[in-house]
Amino acid sequence: MIVTTKQLFAHAYGKYAIGAYNINNLEQTMGLFRGNLDSQAPFIIQISKGARSYTHKLMLEGLIRSADEVFPNAIFAVHLDHGDEETCYDCIESGFYSSVMIDASHEDFETNVAITRRVVEAAHAKGIVVEAELGQLGGVEEHVKVDEANAKLTDPDQAKKFVELTGCDSLACAIGTSHGAFKFTGTQGLRFDVLAEIQKRLPGFPLVMHGSSSVPQEEVARINAAGGKLKGAKGVDATQFRRAAELGVTKINIDTDGRLVWTRVHREYFLEHPENFDLRPIGKVFMSEYAKFIAQKNEYLGSAGQLEAVRQVLKG
Ligand code: G3H
Ligand code: 13P
Ligand code: ZN
Repeated sequence: MIVTTKQLFAHAYGKYAIGAYNINNLEQTMGLFRGNLDSQAPFIIQISKGARSYTHKLMLEGLIRSADEVFPNAIFAVHLDHGDEETCYDCIESGFYSSVMIDASHEDFETNVAITRRVVEAAHAKGIVVEAELGQLGGVEEHVKVDEANAKLTDPDQAKKFVELTGCDSLACAIGTSHGAFKFTGTQGLRFDVLAEIQKRLPGFPLVMHGSSSVPQEEVARINAAGGKLKGAKGVDATQFRRAAELGVTKINIDTDGRLVWTRVHREYFLEHPENFDLRPIGKVFMSEYAKFIAQKNEYLGSAGQLEAVRQVLKG
């Protein structure tokens, strides 16, 4: 059943976070649904602009509609990840997405507000909810001075003003993470102090944490042992997700870790089965490993086991 992220956030706020997982193909979609049902978790499917154009934007839509039929007990939102204004309107008009992200965080404050406001108006007119972003994610290097690093993080006072001016439904905040497999070069980590200040100014308002892959070291080691070259990859400590959830983070975005599962499974499989050229045996291994990965993440997020409670709330 497709719901909005807002409906999921209402149940999760302050207690746990919903996993927001990117998909690009059939095998990920199957693994995603299985993993969430195995762990009895509500979830968010994220589709990026790149994923929409990987084959054709309607292909992922078709896969998700079918998965909804194959797994009738699943409760999930369909969300555009990092949309520009044009892509947001396309998704709003499609009637399929229940949630869009407008990412104008690279613009100055006033322009970000203006663009976000326009998308919010268009989306709300169709019952679709909007995630916006303020601050800039990205590698904060250890040698960067505190002032410079803080300048990229979300400013708590600006966050309050931004939400009031735009009417967005959730806010992605920069609190020290970055996208990809190389997040930290040393001892940096999540800035809970900044997050706490944002929550103080926006009590009860859903916050979003991007760039939340953990880049498990055993996964990186297995990839490298099977011929990969991922040196110095490092991510977010998943045991910190629950603390972030208590501070108002209701959505935690994870993509890179899923890509690492794909890379590990395929590298190891072809090393062990050099004679194989059938795509289905490896596809089956991947779907099963991806489902396990999703179920494990949901344990860290606290969303595991929440499915029936969410269903009851939705029934009213
Ligand atoms: O934040 C970006 C997501 O990991 C999606 O990545 O744009 O390569 O699909 P992508
Ligand atoms: P990761 O690269 O840490 O998985 O972040 C994904 C993300 O934020 C998608 O929007
Ligand atoms: Zn992101």
